[in-house]
Amino acid sequence: MPRKKKIEETTPGVDKPIIELAKMAKTPQLVKGMKDILPQEQPYWDAVRDVIERITRNYGFSRMDTPLVEDLALYTHAVGRQTDIVEKEMYTMTDLGGNTLALRPEFTAAIARAYIEHGMVTHPQPVKLFTVGALFRYDKPQEGRYRQHHQFNCEIVGEGKPAVDAQLIFMAHKFFSYLGIPSVLHINSIGCLECRAVYRATLTEFYRSKRSLVCEDCKRRLAKNPLRLLDCKVETCQPVKALAPHIVDSLCELCKDHFMGVLESIDEFEIPYQHNPHLVRGLDYYSRTVFEFQLQSQDPEASQKNIALGGGGRWDNLIEVLGGQPTPACGFGLGIERTILALKSLETARGESLLPVKPKPQIFVAQLGEQAKRRSMLLFESILDEGFTAASEFSKDSLKAQLEIANRLGVEFTIILGQKELIDGTIIIRNMEGGEQEVVDIKKLIPVLRKKLTHEHGEGSTSTPSTTPQKGR
Ligand code: HAM
Repeated sequence: MPRKKKIEETTPGVDKPIIELAKMAKTPQLVKGMKDILPQEQPYWDAVRDVIERITRNYGFSRMDTPLVEDLALYTHAVGRQTDIVEKEMYTMTDLGGNTLALRPEFTAAIARAYIEHGMVTHPQPVKLFTVGALFRYDKPQEGRYRQHHQFNCEIVGEGKPAVDAQLIFMAHKFFSYLGIPSVLHINSIGCLECRAVYRATLTEFYRSKRSLVCEDCKRRLAKNPLRLLDCKVETCQPVKALAPHIVDSLCELCKDHFMGVLESIDEFEIPYQHNPHLVRGLDYYSRTVFEFQLQSQDPEASQKNIALGGGGRWDNLIEVLGGQPTPACGFGLGIERTILALKSLETARGESLLPVKPKPQIFVAQLGEQAKRRSMLLFESILDEGFTAASEFSKDSLKAQLEIANRLGVEFTIILGQKELIDGTIIIRNMEGGEQEVVDIKKLIPVLRKKLTHEHGEGSTSTPSTTPQKGR
């Protein structure tokens, strides 16, 4: 190929070549807190997607996608004006029509909005919805904390029984266990609006008496959002927090019964759990059950140990707050990036891959010579259309290089078309394991391949799904 000529075109009146003029002063960089998901990361995402598919199918959930952008007021009402998400982490904007919008920081508020807007109250209840996608929070970037992250989110709307909470918890537990991640559930009840008001008063009174002992943030929380006092991670506040009254002691009879119902069910499911009396979760819409999943690790130093892999709870008042009929609901959101980080840290600790083995392509199509290459490209398409799994690398001219790729991919057979075969109307089939080659009539290639692949895996074998090709698959 001739060497590329230096670009000589110039803008009239200017001596510099066009590319020099158009060149950016600085090469663009990834926006802080965002992440590219590179090809080598994709097998982890595929594994997560497969598990999501399996779980949502088994439990009868329907997929629901909401827009990336919503009215800002949805989040200030649903998530709460005094929460970290609304106060500090929202990506907001005013569009050209003057509307105040926000990039979605979580899914539940939009699901509640959609439930009302699409009259789902008239559907058979409960309505079980799942969604998977990107969320945006202007968080402080660090490992496991990004400004764009993804969640697998499930909601059951229209049913208030404890069995619903327990089933959702079991589903989330299964999500982690199917991926080989040992998780531990932290669970609490924050009661209904009435008993929470009683608890808030008790907690406020307790913290007022300890005001001089807590951090500035806690002093602020005491005035604005006392329940969040229990979220404080500052070392010096921990002794005070340890003595704080527990919300379970303020629960009304109905909330107490509900919580006991949930715990009894998860006991039966034999899910490892801890009752965490300080777990309140940082979103205003929760009532009664709240829960989080953490990585269960023997190593006290593990960086992932206390990071929530996912969380959820009941949101019985939200639909009414947004203008719908009173409708109980419960759900969870599991962080996909954090799940993948946990998966990788377990792989490092165990020195083995936790990803399921992907089926290899059955056939590699190799070629030698320009004419043979063009013919092989057509052949490759017809092999795929016949339902085989195949690979090729038409940018390579050397047979050695192509066979190396075929070996790397672990294919069973490579078919080789060269100039001579093209003239003879034949093709070579090479068994990659033993290296034996045979020449066959090209017209008989498909039946010969089918026979060989069926024979390799035994007649009627079902162990390798890709061994019995189906046309047009
Ligand atoms: P959340 O606890 O805010 O709950 O988020 C759920 C999960 O998303 C977290 O446990 C974490 O794994 C992941 N996550 C959150 N923020 C980030 C971040 N900045 N970077 C990486 N991962 C993150 C909710 O969003 C609720 N809407 C869940 C829910 C659904 N509750 C009821 N239904």
